[in-house]
Amino acid sequence: MSDPDQAAGGHESAERLLGTAGVARRPVGHAEAVVASRAWWDADADDYLAEHGDFLGDADFVWCPEGLREQDAHLLGDVAGKRVLEVGCGAAMCARWLTSVGADAVAMDLSGGMLRHADEANRRTGLKPPLVQADAARLPFASGTFDIACSAFGAVPFTPDLDAVFTEVARVLRPAGRWVFAVTHPMRWIFPDDPGPAGLRVINSYFDRTPYVEIDAQGQATYVEYHRTLGDYIRALRGAGFVLDDLVEPEWPEGHELVWGQWGPERGELFPGTAIFRCELAT
Ligand SMILES: C[S@@+](CC[C@H](N)C(=O)[O-])C[C@H]1O[C@@H](n2cnc3c(N)ncnc32)[C@H](O)[C@@H]1O
Repeated sequence: MSDPDQAAGGHESAERLLGTAGVARRPVGHAEAVVASRAWWDADADDYLAEHGDFLGDADFVWCPEGLREQDAHLLGDVAGKRVLEVGCGAAMCARWLTSVGADAVAMDLSGGMLRHADEANRRTGLKPPLVQADAARLPFASGTFDIACSAFGAVPFTPDLDAVFTEVARVLRPAGRWVFAVTHPMRWIFPDDPGPAGLRVINSYFDRTPYVEIDAQGQATYVEYHRTLGDYIRALRGAGFVLDDLVEPEWPEGHELVWGQWGPERGELFPGTAIFRCELAT
């Protein structure tokens, strides 16, 4: 899951390593985004997992900071015996959970640093979904080879070309295949990334799609994250041949005290932080 306001702290070693010098709002194309995201997630992988690894678990499928688990939500349907692709898997905890319940899961991610953690956890748990390093906009899999694709905040928020990712996911799915993915809820974009009362003031237009970009001293992107409106997601899904089946906006559970970047109980009580799109390929 993302933490767009890197300036809010917790990413000092990645920022130091990458020479992050400031924040910009400007367009970033595919090539620059891939270079920035690979470098960012490589540099931040250790800190990310040190901070969030306990919450995410070794072989668990947690969709979002609200703590919604696949074992309770059943958004993927029956996965036993199904071929499932996890897109932007990070340390692949979801793919290991899928493996533990009988799915034939494959996990892919852009970052070798994240996949190194995935490999260590595969060995530690004995649950070993294959790990593949690739860009979600160019999936290295044959067409029509998966029953289900899923992603918990992987790849989609970090790639400029939604159409390319959705078209690739559609290509590797079998007819009537399911695609379920979680992203930051689009309405969060209008607020500052602050989990407290300061995060309740509107500072951005919902309609401004200019990405959030961190840059080094030369102006090259070191981190990039994209905003889309709900309508943008629906149009891109339909364009790739998907039918939207449900849009899940998990509520913040009572007594859940987690603070993860801009997510936390104070704002979680008032408005959604996560949007989970559940779609199927139109037949
Ligand atoms: C916030 S993590 C989500 C992973 C995992 N579900 C979790 O909650 O930790 C985002 C992941 O997306 C991956 N990612 C970013 N851009 C990508 C791309 N273009 N293709 C594939 N993966 C990408 C990153 O490397 C990172 O591992």
